[in-house]
Amino acid sequence: MSQKAVFLTAKQGSFAVGTRPIPKPGSGQVLIKVQSAALNPADWKIQAYGVFIENFPAVLGLDIAGTIEAVGEGVTGFAKGDRVLNQGAIGDNDCAGFQQYALANVDATAKIASSLSFDQASTIPLGLATAALGLFNRGKANSAGLYPPWEENGSGRYAGQPIVIFGGASSVGQYVIQVAKLAGFSPIITTASLTNADYLRSLGATHVLDRKLTAEQLKAQVSSITSAPIQTVYDVISEADTQNVAYDLLSPGGTLVRMPLDAIPESKRTSDKKIVTVYGGVNIPDNRATGVSLYKELTRLLENGSIKPNRVEVLPKGLEGIIDGLKKLQGGVSNIKLVAHPQETA
Ligand SMILES: NC(=O)c1ccc[n+]([C@@H]2O[C@H](COP(=O)([O-])OP(=O)(O)OC[C@H]3O[C@@H](n4cnc5c(N)ncnc54)[C@H](OP(=O)(O)O)[C@@H]3O)[C@@H](O)[C@H]2O)c1
Repeated sequence: MSQKAVFLTAKQGSFAVGTRPIPKPGSGQVLIKVQSAALNPADWKIQAYGVFIENFPAVLGLDIAGTIEAVGEGVTGFAKGDRVLNQGAIGDNDCAGFQQYALANVDATAKIASSLSFDQASTIPLGLATAALGLFNRGKANSAGLYPPWEENGSGRYAGQPIVIFGGASSVGQYVIQVAKLAGFSPIITTASLTNADYLRSLGATHVLDRKLTAEQLKAQVSSITSAPIQTVYDVISEADTQNVAYDLLSPGGTLVRMPLDAIPESKRTSDKKIVTVYGGVNIPDNRATGVSLYKELTRLLENGSIKPNRVEVLPKGLEGIIDGLKKLQGGVSNIKLVAHPQETA
C-alpha cells in the first residue's frame, strides 16, 4: 500500500510530492491517518540551510493531527478511529507529518479534546513541547529545569514570580505564555506587535510590550511593571538584539531560555546567569521523560481549556500546498499557524 508524501529531494534541494509505502506500526506505535499537518520554521530552515538531516529524500513535518488507522503490539488505551495529535520526528521519514500516514510512539500521542478541530490540534505538538521543555525539563542542561505545572502540586507553584517572554505572538511564544500561566508566573510580560496584544492577554499575558521598543525603553517598561527579580526569561525569537536585552533583564541566579543561535558575547556573560538552549523534540533521550509526562496530561489540559491552540490558516491543494506554504512561512507570518490537509492531495 502506498501513500503520497512531500519529499525534500536532496540537501538544500527542492520539495516535490511523490509516493512512498505506508509504514506498519511496531511495538508501542500507532499508525495515524494524517488529517492536518502544521508547518514550522524548522521545515524551511532544513531546506534553506542544509541542517539536521543527512539522508535524502527526506519527509519533513513536525506537527500531526489525525485518526488512528492501526495499532501496534502492546498498545493499550488507543483504538482505530481515535482522534489524536503527535509530534513528527526529524530524520525519520515514517514518523514525519508531510504525508498521508505517519507512525507515532503511543506514549507521546494524546487524544484530541472534542472541542478542537484537527487543524487546531495540529498547531500544538512542537510549539507546546518547545515551551514546556524549555522551562520544565527537570535535571536537564537544555532547560530552566522548573517543576512542571501539569504534574501533581505543579499548578501555581511559581506564583508571584515574573517571567519575560520575547515573541509572545509566535506559535511557541503562545504556548510559553500558557504554560507560564499554569505554573503561576505573574506578571507575564511579553513582546509582540501591539495588534496581537488583546489576543495574547486572552492567553494569559498580563503585559504586552511593543516589539519595536528600543532596548532601553523595554528595560524601563519592565522595571515599571515589576521590581521583583527576574529569574526566568524565554527568548523565542533569539535574534542578536532580543537575546542581549533578554540577558540584561535577567537577575543574578536567573535562567535565559533561548533558541540555538548564540548571540551573547563572552565579555558580557557572568557566571551567575544561566543560558540554556532548548530543543523541542519530545522523542530525543534528554526530553523523553518530560515529553511523556506532558502527553499523559495533555488531553486533560486541552479539555479544560488550559492549553489553547494557535490560530489557523489552512493551505490549499493538500500536500502540494506545503511547498508554497513553506515559502510563505519563511517570509514571516503573524499570529497564525499554516496547516495543510494531506488527504486532499490530488
Ligand atoms: N529549538 C527548537 O526546538 C525550536 C522549536 C520550535 C521553534 N523554534 C524556533 O523558534 C522560533 C519561533 O518559531 P515559531 O514557530 O513560534 O514562529 P512563528 O509562529 O512563525 O513566529 C512568528 C511570530 O514571531 C513574532 N516575532 C518576530 N520577530 C519578533 C521580534 N523581534 N520580537 C517579538 N516577536 C517577534 C511575530 O510577532 P508579531 O506578529 O506580534 O509581530 C510573529 O507573530 C523560530 O526561530 C523557530 O525556528 C525552535
